[in-house]
Amino acid sequence: MTRRILVTSALPYANGPIHIGHLVEYIQTDIWVRFQKLIGNRCLYICADDTHGTAIMIRAKKENRSEEELIADMSRQHQRDFADFHVEFDHYGSTNSDSNREYCHQIWKALRDADLITERAIDQLYDPEAETFLADRFVRGTCPVSGHKDQPGDNCVCGATYSPTELIDPKSTLSGATPEIRTAVHLFVELEKLRPFLTQWIDNGDALQKETANYLKGYFLAEDKPLKDWDISRPGPYFGFEIPDSPGNYWYVWFDAPIGYIASTAEWCTANGESIDDWWRSESTEIHHFIGKDITYFHTLFWPGMLHTAGFQLPTKVHIHGFLNVGGEKMSKSTGTLIAAETYQKYAEPDLLRYFYATKLTPRVEDLDLGIDEFVDKVNSDLVGKVVNLASRVGKFAKSTGLSPIYPDDGGLFQNAAQAGDAIAAAYESGDFSRAMRLIMELADAANPFVEHAKPWEMKKDADRQDELRDVVTVALNLFRQLAIYLAPVLPSLAQKCDALLGEPITSWQQSKTPLVGTPVEKFKRMMERIQPEDLQKMIDESKANADAEAATENLPTFNDSDAPLKDEPLADEITIDDFVKVDFRVARVLSAEHVPEANKLLKLTLGLGGDETRQVFAGIKAAYQPEKLVGRLVVMVANLKPRKMRFGLSEGMVCASGPGGEDVFLLAVDEGALPGQRVH
Ligand code: MSP
Repeated sequence: MTRRILVTSALPYANGPIHIGHLVEYIQTDIWVRFQKLIGNRCLYICADDTHGTAIMIRAKKENRSEEELIADMSRQHQRDFADFHVEFDHYGSTNSDSNREYCHQIWKALRDADLITERAIDQLYDPEAETFLADRFVRGTCPVSGHKDQPGDNCVCGATYSPTELIDPKSTLSGATPEIRTAVHLFVELEKLRPFLTQWIDNGDALQKETANYLKGYFLAEDKPLKDWDISRPGPYFGFEIPDSPGNYWYVWFDAPIGYIASTAEWCTANGESIDDWWRSESTEIHHFIGKDITYFHTLFWPGMLHTAGFQLPTKVHIHGFLNVGGEKMSKSTGTLIAAETYQKYAEPDLLRYFYATKLTPRVEDLDLGIDEFVDKVNSDLVGKVVNLASRVGKFAKSTGLSPIYPDDGGLFQNAAQAGDAIAAAYESGDFSRAMRLIMELADAANPFVEHAKPWEMKKDADRQDELRDVVTVALNLFRQLAIYLAPVLPSLAQKCDALLGEPITSWQQSKTPLVGTPVEKFKRMMERIQPEDLQKMIDESKANADAEAATENLPTFNDSDAPLKDEPLADEITIDDFVKVDFRVARVLSAEHVPEANKLLKLTLGLGGDETRQVFAGIKAAYQPEKLVGRLVVMVANLKPRKMRFGLSEGMVCASGPGGEDVFLLAVDEGALPGQRVH
């Protein structure tokens, strides 16, 4: 029976680019979704950018643009990166959408109606210069317990935890200012009231991996301590949605972020004529969330609590993965291992990373490691050496032979691989991609010796053995196609290359059961290149250089210059130095300046280039400069501009100035010491 499955990945924050750590999750989810679609289930893959919160607000301010401009830009970048890595969403929305606001209102009302919201005033640090309340991570100071200096707002290296208001000599990391303590009302969800439901949800069924259920029961739901109220609001200014019945307060980003799953699905439904209730309020739909271990409790306590209260369907399963390390260490900007998706792409094929992650992913919450040598060895030996090799060793003979009309005797290889399909499918289904890859590589290991023993390159030379050659081609390409079908969720572009070679698109898992026979074969094209360790090293070097450059600009003083001038007039096309030197800029002294009675914008200037050399120039600067104040000052002029005859006389050059015109015109100034006639380079 066809299942109806809704799948989500966590919504990436809009305050930074996608990196290879994020990609663990999006690739993992995409593989699972592609597998579901391939075996014929109805599956919808939904995601969105997570756009609200203090970090976005601060970054937008720093970059001198609106939050909306920033998030639109990030959404474009994120979607470009995902597409480059073949992560294919059915819909990609934004939490800053009308649809999300609507569902936030709906769920909020349900929480209010269920009497789960309470209010109380809390003390919080406020940055008077940045004019914002400070989240814990934006404050540093001296630990109130051990006296360690420069500690974050909530915990110290000594192990003490405290509230940021207890820090000694606190400083805002946003502005360096000393924060003030301000009291503000916050709204809270009384989670303790949801305890019976949460206990039942955690104990019930397969929604959570065992280790996660145990962690939640032991840590949060221990009988002896009540569940802490969840602080769900932030006082303005805050980039987010204002709470309808609490003006001046905004929903904390983690309230509206998961609601984005529903809102983004609703947008897809509207565009596709479907009902949202079929996806979020129907017991016959499965809901699968894929997330990283760091956001477990948002998805396993708060989120089910919200869904339950508002009458939505609960997640069928929350698939939680571990974190990516590189070379055995946590990824870090300073060592260059926090590699952006965009940087990776310049040096290696996205498919290689998809395969490598697949070999590492299991249904358990385990961290995974990307070691350079392991990565290179694995993708070269498995993909190039085993899978693609099968096709490439017969590829050059295949166009001339085509496929045999009847599938030849291959000693049971095809049949064996067809039978293995069920075990491979079960491994995909359970999220054990590592096992699925191992099973597929076992098939590749069994298939390759067939070609080696048959030696098709020798048959090619013997006119009497052409039928035999065609049979070998038929077996090798069919075994290759079986592998391409089994790998299609991981390597969609290899599946497409197989389609192009054999003229039969891979659309269903079932195609692995029946060989292709009697059809022509297209000209073989190389399918995959080997990767070298140097390629990965280059990725790391570039990431490090980017991080260093970013750190250097972060230390630049901010002048808050507007970006409007550049936007109004974007930079011109690149020119060469030869183009540039054609224009002869010279320092000139204004010898006289007078009104031109017939022209209301122009001043007539006599410019001296040293000695007796003068030029007469008409300049549109009348609204901005009084002529008598110009006499004697130095300006920059274009001295070799072809003279132009105007109504009032000949203009023999141009004075350099910026600005849109009218009163907003600004002559270029020349520093003290420059001499009229000097060339400007
Ligand atoms: N915006 C929240 C999620 C809201 S969901 C309603 C968030 N965003 S994130 O951009 O920080 O992370 C997105 C996903 O990528 C999370 O599931 C996170 O666990 C995952 N990863 C981020 N860095 C990662 C690694 N280094 N390794 C593996 N996964 C990582 O959290």
